[in-house]
Amino acid sequence: MLESYPKIEVEDPFGVPPDTLGLSADEMRRLGYRVVDLVVDRAMRRNQEHAILEASPAELLARLGGPLPEEPGDPDAALELMAEVALSHQQHGDHPRYFARVPGPASFAAILGEWMGTGFNTIAASWGGGSGPAAVEMTVCRWIAELLGMPPETEGVLVSGGSLGNLTAFAVARSENGPGVAYLTDQTHSSLPRDLRALGWAEEDIRILPAGAGLRMDLADLRAAIAADKAAGRRPALVIATAGSTNTGAVDPLEGIADLCRDEGLWFHVDGAYGGPAALVPEGRAALAGMERADSVVLDPHKWLFQPYDVGVCLVTRPAALERAFAMHPEYLKDVQATTGAVNFGNRSLELTRRSRALKLWMSLRTYGAKRFREAVRAGIRTAELAERLLRADPATWEVVTPAQIGIVCFAFRGAKPGEHAAAAKAVSDSGFACVTSTSLQGQSALRLCTINPLTTEADIAETLRRLAAARPG
Ligand SMILES: Cc1ncc(COP(=O)(O)O)c(C=O)c1O
Repeated sequence: MLESYPKIEVEDPFGVPPDTLGLSADEMRRLGYRVVDLVVDRAMRRNQEHAILEASPAELLARLGGPLPEEPGDPDAALELMAEVALSHQQHGDHPRYFARVPGPASFAAILGEWMGTGFNTIAASWGGGSGPAAVEMTVCRWIAELLGMPPETEGVLVSGGSLGNLTAFAVARSENGPGVAYLTDQTHSSLPRDLRALGWAEEDIRILPAGAGLRMDLADLRAAIAADKAAGRRPALVIATAGSTNTGAVDPLEGIADLCRDEGLWFHVDGAYGGPAALVPEGRAALAGMERADSVVLDPHKWLFQPYDVGVCLVTRPAALERAFAMHPEYLKDVQATTGAVNFGNRSLELTRRSRALKLWMSLRTYGAKRFREAVRAGIRTAELAERLLRADPATWEVVTPAQIGIVCFAFRGAKPGEHAAAAKAVSDSGFACVTSTSLQGQSALRLCTINPLTTEADIAETLRRLAAARPG
């Protein structure tokens, strides 16, 4: 095994034990295989498990807390307690009937990539300190840019998710284009205005426009806001478009925004944290047309690219802009940063010491190929369309509030009264059968399904709708 793995000749291998703190090789293997069994057993029975499970702090801390263990304990008992109590009490984003917020339908090959990185204690900070993982990350960023149809000069960095991806892009936007007013809508994910504030954007430079028709950014409103700011002596700097809003899957008019940003000299950012992967299939690519013209794009592979938490990607189309915003050159990092053509990923975001989030993407893309990813994305888009058809087939019970849009459909009880949606969603979620949430769309209450898990079947959707209708109060 690993015969070609480079070795050095040492006269005395010093009898190094395999585990720093004392487990034998046999125990390491046995416990490792046990972990694989726990994970695969759970994956095989996930359909019978609660889509979401929560307990009180008192209950959970009584089982998981206790005094600091000073003496060694039983690792088998710890693993079992972890699986049975800690890991069962969460939202199971890979459950076929987890429809709330944004599911996390992680694939097993990606999980293997994550495990390998942890097992080899991988660091992806600099070329000199981790040239292998850096080459994997360069490759993965290129593959993702290609999957999205971004220009070949696009560069990227992997971060923890959409929140940090957008923050990274905004820091680059300001470093390239200077400070000034940022434009977004009331449908922009709430982490984005938080990112702007955290970066020191003044409140008067954060322009949150009410979304227009279809809950999309209204181009005329945007144009008017830019003109008003210029007339008031302020400096427009950045437009933040959403490609797939969390609430409804709506895509802002990206082509029009791209034209406006070009004409006005503004940085054009696209938050595709949720919807970006729709570009893997022609119907999604058409819905997202214009995204490839962005200066920066964020997407979250831990949502719709079938990766375990966490991983977000920040892509920037201007070469070396990430480094201009984030590079540091202290004397103690000189030895690891020198090579031509190398990327020091610690110079592309606020994270210096960082694990390799690229390994899981690389592993899963090599295992399944882009083809299987495309099929899985297409399945998510189609499942939301199927849900819309089932809702429209029963107009006495349901009203469609926003149509199926890249994997999300919003709907309401016909003649709904206040509180009914939240109550029905809670009843179904508490039962464990499915996890559904309600939302509010500019004041109108609605239920919402996000259907990006390719394992979800028509029967899953039909039975979830039946149970929601049955759970309607009154
Ligand atoms: C559109 C959008 N942007 C940003 C985020 C924030 O991403 P994260 O939770 O990965 O930080 C989300 C999360 O759901 C999202 O849906």
